[in-house]
Amino acid sequence: MINRYVSPTELRRLISTLLVVVGFIALAALFGFIVLPGLRFQAHTAQESPVVAVQGDTGWLDPTDTPITAKHVLPPIDPKTVLTPNPELMARGKALYGQTCAPCHGIGGKGDGPAGKGLTPAPRNFTVKAGWRNGTRLEDVYRTLDEGLKGSSMVSYNFLSKKDRMALAHVVQSLGAFDHGINDPKAIAGLEKLFAGAGEVIPNRIPLRLAVDRLVREFQAAPGLKDRDASPILQEAVLDPTRAAQTLAGIPGWQTSEQVLAKALLPGLPANGFAPAVAGYSPARWKELRTGLLGR
Ligand code: HEC
Repeated sequence: MINRYVSPTELRRLISTLLVVVGFIALAALFGFIVLPGLRFQAHTAQESPVVAVQGDTGWLDPTDTPITAKHVLPPIDPKTVLTPNPELMARGKALYGQTCAPCHGIGGKGDGPAGKGLTPAPRNFTVKAGWRNGTRLEDVYRTLDEGLKGSSMVSYNFLSKKDRMALAHVVQSLGAFDHGINDPKAIAGLEKLFAGAGEVIPNRIPLRLAVDRLVREFQAAPGLKDRDASPILQEAVLDPTRAAQTLAGIPGWQTSEQVLAKALLPGLPANGFAPAVAGYSPARWKELRTGLLGR
């Protein structure tokens, strides 16, 4: 029937032209639906400033890991600089809040952060006065951060420095427009004393990655101190052969120096598997112990 209008060669040419057109449309659609939105998404996200991690004074707020910090003392704080908000304190508090609290309490403090969904009890809504357990005054919020709230996912944040906790307390208050109540002069005097008093001691800290490495090394299957009984010094110095072997596995270089061995063992007695008696060993006895351990 169709042969009456077009010759077979013409029909074939028509069909191939049609195929080319369809192919072209398919390619254009692919470009329009997949490539273009991707490009637009990229341009959109590139404009946003990256989130910069805030480092707490105490080295705890880096979400990736804590840097190695030696034990140090934060100097006492002038109470005036933390009991009333100032721009520097608020800027710091806001940065910490965004990183640490907003996931549960929400950026605006409405208790609607993504990580707070489904928590029982739900994170507090800082914009209304209802439902606060510790209270809304400055000293109350500080106490919440110091102690946490029992029976809820609101934990203690006392690993943050006092100044950082105070900055956060001001930020929490700033998120609610209601009257937060009149401060109790006694409580404020207590806080003043706390801040002006002795500086804050921040202990040695190592990155989590390093701590895990150490733990793993410590608990790696260590060769047991099986023939403890063969050596009098081992009989006397080793309390728990398995634990002692694990301890040794975690001390690099003990094989070559009794000083290294002594320095590593002494602070951990007797939990590290060695007897308290080794604390009184003379250098000669340490040497004997090291030789005994080597020959086990
Ligand atoms: C894991 C989620 C979570 C995070 C993170 C969190 N909170 Fe909370 N917070 C809660 C929950 C849940 C409650 C309510 C507990 C309750 O009602 O017992 C709460 C309650 C509070 C309260 C109200 C205390 C009161 O008197 O009732 C304050 C203030 C507070 N949080 C401050 C903070 C600050 C500041 C931070 C950041 C340093 C923070 N929270 C981080 C979950 C969280």
